[in-house]
Amino acid sequence: MMARTLLQQGFDHQRENVLDSDEGGSGFLKDFTRRDQVFSFLKPPYNPKVDIKNDMLLYVEGVSKSFDGFKAINDLNLYIKKGELRCIIGPNGAGKTTMMDIITGKTRPDVGEVWLGQRLDLLKMDEADIANAGVGRKFQKPTVFEALTVWENLELAMAGNKGTWQMFRAVLSGEQKCDIEQVLELIGLKTLSKMIAGKLSHGQKQWLEIGMLLMQKPTLLLVDEPVAGMTHQEMDRTAELLLSLAGSHSVMVVEHDMDFVRSIASTVTVLHQGHVLAEGTMQAIQDDARVREVYLGQ
Ligand SMILES: Nc1ncnc2c1ncn2[C@@H]1O[C@H](COP(=O)(O)OP(=O)(O)OP(=O)(O)O)[C@@H](O)[C@H]1O
Ligand SMILES: [Mg+2]
Repeated sequence: MMARTLLQQGFDHQRENVLDSDEGGSGFLKDFTRRDQVFSFLKPPYNPKVDIKNDMLLYVEGVSKSFDGFKAINDLNLYIKKGELRCIIGPNGAGKTTMMDIITGKTRPDVGEVWLGQRLDLLKMDEADIANAGVGRKFQKPTVFEALTVWENLELAMAGNKGTWQMFRAVLSGEQKCDIEQVLELIGLKTLSKMIAGKLSHGQKQWLEIGMLLMQKPTLLLVDEPVAGMTHQEMDRTAELLLSLAGSHSVMVVEHDMDFVRSIASTVTVLHQGHVLAEGTMQAIQDDARVREVYLGQ
């Protein structure tokens, strides 16, 4: 019924176009049956500018966002490839968190385009849809369930946005158990699976939270300041973890700690006043006079 209505609309629209021209009704059928033309309502949402041939996954273009007249994000262009680990740096207030808010649907930009692959227009989706489509976000403060064990936290995360406590009553399939075990191995908490999460160290809680995101099998992970408050040893372990996730996930890491960024970065993007100031290897960024002026020279 719906399809018929849509088809009828397309038909009417096409007819109007034809009747507007001088060809008259005789050209209408010819036009309708043209094979080189697809009705716009039948086309899937599709953005050919997202260069999937070159493995582009996240496409952010021409994005701006003002808060009370202040441009927190100003004509931002950013492209992340599949499997890439990208570090985002920039002084306080540069717009790093706001950029993540826009990608995850928490904040809507005033203008611009944000796509995940060629088919998902993230600006047309809400936060839950974006998360379900494979964008996982880790906030700075860990939000694990302190009274539950490490294993139970991961189990709960598996239910995700469909979120249900019935998970606990359901018997896990072999595959689900295997998923949890794999994640435990990755985040280095295998021996602590029965421990109450509240007893973990700050660093371990951060890894558990990354593990909880992984249970959703995201394609893109956004991680805001993961090593704040960590010991050096925990930072090294976090670097290893994020590096091991790259390749099978795209990972975007916002971090102020330059030693940490140096230890994981292949490509670094410097944000300044809501715009990309520079992008390149850590070495190129360190040698960039503009970057030194606004950021490293601080
Ligand atoms: N909801 C909001 N309302 C008003 N202003 C906001 C809002 N969110 C962010 N801003 C402003 O936008 C600018 C960018 O903030 P944002 O938090 O994105 O910066 P940041 O790069 O993450 O900084 P930091 O390194 O301190 O975390 C700041 O000037 C901030 O005050
Ligand atoms: Mg921030």
